[in-house]
Amino acid sequence: MALKTGRGAAAPPFIVMDVITAANARQAALPPDAPAVIHMEVGQPGTGAPAAAAAAAARALAAGEPMGYTESLGRPSLRRRIARHYADWYGLDLPPERVAVTVGASGAFPLAFLAAFDPGDRVALAAPFYPPYVNILTALGMRPVVLPTGPETRFQPTVDALERLDPAPDGLIVASPCNPAGTMLHADELRAIAGWCHATGVRLISDEIYHGLNYSAPIVTAAALSPSAVVVNSFSKYFSMTGWRIGWLVLPDDLLRPVECLAQNLFISAPHIAQVAAEAAFECTEELRANVIRYRRSRDLLLRALPGAGFPRISPAEGAFYLYADISGRSNDSQDFCRRMLAEAGIAAAPGVDFDRARGHTFVRFSYCGPEADMAEAARRLHDWK
Ligand SMILES: Cc1ncc(COP(=O)(O)O)c(C=O)c1O
Repeated sequence: MALKTGRGAAAPPFIVMDVITAANARQAALPPDAPAVIHMEVGQPGTGAPAAAAAAAARALAAGEPMGYTESLGRPSLRRRIARHYADWYGLDLPPERVAVTVGASGAFPLAFLAAFDPGDRVALAAPFYPPYVNILTALGMRPVVLPTGPETRFQPTVDALERLDPAPDGLIVASPCNPAGTMLHADELRAIAGWCHATGVRLISDEIYHGLNYSAPIVTAAALSPSAVVVNSFSKYFSMTGWRIGWLVLPDDLLRPVECLAQNLFISAPHIAQVAAEAAFECTEELRANVIRYRRSRDLLLRALPGAGFPRISPAEGAFYLYADISGRSNDSQDFCRRMLAEAGIAAAPGVDFDRARGHTFVRFSYCGPEADMAEAARRLHDWK
């Protein structure tokens, strides 16, 4: 007899993870003297944790600190340090009690979604989007409401588009800088959206994971713009601690205790050792700024080189480490295009269908967080391949 499976069993893959597997298989099959595959599919810094963060973890282990559970909302010292970060970066006086330490931003999403929404609730977001937003909402029985966006709004939602939704959504997810386009909501735009959400009773979830990786426009946090917004952030990108699986939420007062109870039940706590390292990462500004400067150079190089290499329309990226390229002049099947690019040019990139199921077949996402020399070589290979 066929056994029942749950709604979550229908969760689609996060396609970029499959591309990583294909790129690794391609590399393994190459003769040792062949040019290596260039990884432009992954969205993780290759730099590793900043030195002082790794050293703090090593010291704690050498001292025999028992790595038990921490309080579910995180070690008090880390919550205080994150709150101070809001004073340092945004001039915001944030009470540490409003900070919840999580298992990456990924672990923050189910906590935030379950605390803020019910099954059946409609949560709006711009397409193209970070695929897990939609996949997690769907697995939890919530209904994503996709707002198609393009270069005319820098792939970001607008208050006008939100006002046209009938009925109004229960929630809205924004990300600035965003994945996959690398584009931003500028301060006035985020302020308008946050104000509209608060006034309309729409719960705003602001994914600020790429803060710090902004190259021209300044960043503002939704926590400074709305008392009801939920902010998601992480040590995975700017802080270069992807595998340490540590992130945080800034919560409005009404969601504090609900998130604490959910965290107690779902995760108990974020990894203790990662919390020790994360606290030290805040003191590594010089090292982390050097990464940002490198990303910015790679972005500038690719924005200059890609139009001549057969990618004339690229997202006006101001942050993160992604470019979203329109390939409609060359293909209407981004998965096939990426397969050929890997096989023929030795470059792995993510097909747009991962980020926009309706229109992503004519887009490709390039990630440029890899070594600078690889990015220059990728531009040459793409030019020859076009
Ligand atoms: C927009 C966005 N949000 C969240 C995440 C998940 O990050 P974490 O490693 O903190 O779980 C990613 C990872 O790529 C991302 O791009």
